[in-house]
Amino acid sequence: MILVTGARGNVGGELLRQLSAGGHAVRALTRDAARAGLPAGADVAEGDFGTAGSLAAALAGADSLFLMTSGHETAVLREAVRAGVRRVVLLSSMAATTRPQSLIGRMHREAELAVEASGVEWTFLRPGQFASNTLAWRSQLAAGDVVRTPFADVALPAVHPGDIAAVARTALTRNGHAGQAYPLSGPEPVTPVEQVAAVGEAIGRKLRHEEIGPEQAAAAMAAHMPAPIVAASLEFLGSPTPEETRPVPTVEKVTGTPARTFAQWARDNADGFR
Ligand SMILES: NC(=O)c1ccc[n+]([C@@H]2O[C@H](COP(=O)([O-])OP(=O)(O)OC[C@H]3O[C@@H](n4cnc5c(N)ncnc54)[C@H](OP(=O)(O)O)[C@@H]3O)[C@@H](O)[C@H]2O)c1
Repeated sequence: MILVTGARGNVGGELLRQLSAGGHAVRALTRDAARAGLPAGADVAEGDFGTAGSLAAALAGADSLFLMTSGHETAVLREAVRAGVRRVVLLSSMAATTRPQSLIGRMHREAELAVEASGVEWTFLRPGQFASNTLAWRSQLAAGDVVRTPFADVALPAVHPGDIAAVARTALTRNGHAGQAYPLSGPEPVTPVEQVAAVGEAIGRKLRHEEIGPEQAAAAMAAHMPAPIVAASLEFLGSPTPEETRPVPTVEKVTGTPARTFAQWARDNADGFR
């Protein structure tokens, strides 16, 4: 059985659907089973990374684990190994290698090191920016047809979380991926201006992009993110490293299916903006 953590998230939710559709025995971890957002009939177990002991029931019978980075990896992996988990696919970040000194890079690299130290068979997924980050525009779209972002012309190869899930599914269910660290991206760099146009096309509205300064963006983000994460996120968006701007072919290499474009992601997720 495969335990999927982050099962209400962009990647874990899609992974749960893909594994279930493929007939794999799968269980979803959540902190609160009563909340909506998990498929009806799914095997659901409660637990919290912050209190690793609470994961024992969820891990019972699991041989594989899809693990989100939380900062609690050492304790979580101790429980997982005790329960008999032998294979772990970790949702890390490209920042683990492109920005090892940054807050986000360090947190993900430390998670990777904890997985390595646990002795399980591991695969690391190192995605760059998720296409789903643009769902943060929902409140702007509820108020009108203008989307304001900084860095209008900085293009990044945003990745479809469904493609990250497809790589995770492959690494969890097939042999040959142990000890691999996969950088993951979409097929082409897209700017915020292009993303706004693609979302408009997907939801049938004529949207307009307006550029704002990073300070104004930081003030808006501070409402739902801690200040150090806001600063690190704006660094990613405004000053990407060359590696972060280059598409990589890993999704197709691992799954046999080309990575989907941002426009495709927007079509797949149009309802999320309505
Ligand atoms: N966004 C990006 O551009 C980006 C880029 C590179 C890497 N990443 C990585 O991807 C992750 C985000 O993935 P995502 O978007 O799929 O997920 P997400 O939407 O950020 O996370 C939501 C999920 O995390 C679970 N969760 C949160 N805290 C938990 C805890 N203490 N114990 C157990 N479960 C907990 C939630 O479970 P409940 O059901 O309990 O709510 C929910 O299923 C980031 O954290 C980062 O590590 C993101």
